[in-house]
Amino acid sequence: TIGQKVDALLNRMTLEEKIGQLNQYTGDNAATGPITINPNKQSEIKTGLIGSMLNVLGTQHTRQYQELAMQSRLKIPLLFGQDVIHGYKTTFPIPLAEAASWDLDAMELSARIAATEAAASGIHWTFAPMVDIARDPRWGRVMEGAGEDTYLGSRIAYARVKGFQGKLGDVNSVMACVKHFAAYGAAIGGRDYNSVDMSERMLWETYLPPFKAALDAGAATFMNSFNDLNGIPATGNKYLQRDILKGKWNFQGFVVSDWGSIGEMINHGYVKDSKEAALAAITAGSDMDMESNAYRYNLAQLVQEKKVPIALIDDAVKRILRKKFELGLFEDPYKYSNPEREQAALNNPEHRKAAREVAAKSIVLLKNEKNILPISKQTKTIAFIGPLVKEHKQNMGFWSVELPEVDYEKHVISQWEGLQTKVENTAKLLYAKGCEIEGDNKDGFAEAIAVANQADVVILSIGERRDMSGEAKSRSNLRLPGVQEDLIKAIQATGKPVVVLINAGRPLIFNWTADNIPAILYIWWLGSETGNAIADVLFGDYNPSGKLPISFPREEGQIPIYYNHFNTGRPAPNETASNYVSAYTDLKNSPKFPFGYGLSYTTFEYSNLKLSKNKIKSTESIEVSLNVTNSGKVSGEEVVQLYLRDKVGSVVRPIIELKDFQKIKLNAGETKTVKFSIDKEKLSFYNAALKWSVEPGDFDLMIGSSSADIRLKNTFEVVK
Ligand code: IFM
Repeated sequence: TIGQKVDALLNRMTLEEKIGQLNQYTGDNAATGPITINPNKQSEIKTGLIGSMLNVLGTQHTRQYQELAMQSRLKIPLLFGQDVIHGYKTTFPIPLAEAASWDLDAMELSARIAATEAAASGIHWTFAPMVDIARDPRWGRVMEGAGEDTYLGSRIAYARVKGFQGKLGDVNSVMACVKHFAAYGAAIGGRDYNSVDMSERMLWETYLPPFKAALDAGAATFMNSFNDLNGIPATGNKYLQRDILKGKWNFQGFVVSDWGSIGEMINHGYVKDSKEAALAAITAGSDMDMESNAYRYNLAQLVQEKKVPIALIDDAVKRILRKKFELGLFEDPYKYSNPEREQAALNNPEHRKAAREVAAKSIVLLKNEKNILPISKQTKTIAFIGPLVKEHKQNMGFWSVELPEVDYEKHVISQWEGLQTKVENTAKLLYAKGCEIEGDNKDGFAEAIAVANQADVVILSIGERRDMSGEAKSRSNLRLPGVQEDLIKAIQATGKPVVVLINAGRPLIFNWTADNIPAILYIWWLGSETGNAIADVLFGDYNPSGKLPISFPREEGQIPIYYNHFNTGRPAPNETASNYVSAYTDLKNSPKFPFGYGLSYTTFEYSNLKLSKNKIKSTESIEVSLNVTNSGKVSGEEVVQLYLRDKVGSVVRPIIELKDFQKIKLNAGETKTVKFSIDKEKLSFYNAALKWSVEPGDFDLMIGSSSADIRLKNTFEVVK
């Protein structure tokens, strides 16, 4: 068995070799062409002092490194890890955008394709999915997760792990790494790397479930996080890693630190030096040290001084070796390194096709007055204006893998190119840049206005730069950068019909645009096929079906804003009340665009809600059914959302909570019956004693098209 093989190997290892397995270094990111491996690293690999590398790309280079490992005494293969977050060569939409599709199959497929390409390129392990719940759009890393909701986030976490891992050991699979354990998304003030101060209840109820879901999907590894949680850095946090993850949850894989996070415990003021950092991290359950050099230089001494029992080291080593065995690396260390497979996988047209479909599904139609969209294919002249229209690489968003050999000007379909292909034989396309993304220069406005004046319809593409959201990209100001909103105003003043495309990695604030522009598509960052996907949606070849996975604030002052809040003792009776109720005196409580919101080119009617029972015991289930009819003129997809409210609890409960959803496709005029089952799991919560259980009492059942657009309601009671 693998267990016996691991034990046999462990018995032959010196302490130094064991510690080597716990050590991970970075490479230099190049994919092909000659590389010179740093001589120190070469000799460390040959003496078995490195267990894993990150940022080594491509079959050629991974092989070069692996050959060095094969010169070591025990020939233990290296593991190659990489941030394959939303695609490898074929770039898919950023994870937050994909979450807006609410299409679990699409997300699983996107992860599967990313895994297929990465694994063909020598990679064994992706540092994804990121499953941190994020209620604060100031935090730049909201782009990397599934948004604000625990239920949706858990379903997505499960799908992504399944997609990446498939059947572990298969050559088209990579190990997933669920990150960042834990609570990183709740950094105070939305400032990256900041402290997290959180109740036990909030941790269990809101932040941990997506990690558990990822684990249930079979996630092979976890990454801990940069933040401290209630004063204890996550990397040195025994409660998180040993008690919860490896204890209560019985996680059998291994935990990697975040980059330098073991050493950063010195800055946190949790330990005084690298040696204490190593002691704290290994004791707490961090198995592999990414780039801190703390294990490499301190663990042996800590063992000799009897501060670290050898059993702790052995446990960490065994967890890592087990994965190397499961991947099949001992049978063939070059198993994932096959240039022919690499060529085929990285140039597979099916992957581009899937990327285009997933991108179209990720777009959210925020507004469509007077049915400006879809644009008629009879339109003669279209003006395409804005600083993002002709960009290529920008469309990839943050955290895309950049293969140095790929020419991204050719690889990514720009928005301009996508539209040009679409209207090639039907319309004249005019262009003006208008302005830059940032800065206050309005010199380009006149040309943009002139171009708009010649057109039948104007499309404006504006937003963030791709590196304005991502790691270390927190922002206190979420407005459209530079003079872009002024450009929109100037174009709107021409009186032409205007469609605005907003490119962003997070919810932005664009109140004037939202209130005055008739048609708005939120396009996030869509990846390699951006231009084609946008053109498909603009001209109605794909009917938009995305729904926001995160609330969009009206003003930064509302943050954190999320849909599933408590009622409070003084709930505001309406949007304008502010007198001694829980409200702002200068702003509505509601978001600008709510969680679950997104329009379609068609309309959906909900009817005939039926419950199998209105009174159940907590061990029973209620079967729910309803009809959804496509009442418009074109086919489309709708995300039917099921929400509950537990009216009274031993601790107060949210006013509304997503508990299930289904994405369905309906032809014009078609009606489908949608069925849900409400079982014990959906009724349970962490009670006053923090025990996961159902409490008897009344529940509201709400079925809607968004969290703020409830179409059907009923109530039921749970009895003892
Ligand atoms: O995987 C990432 C992590 O999310 C942030 N710090 C660096 C790691 C490796 O690149």
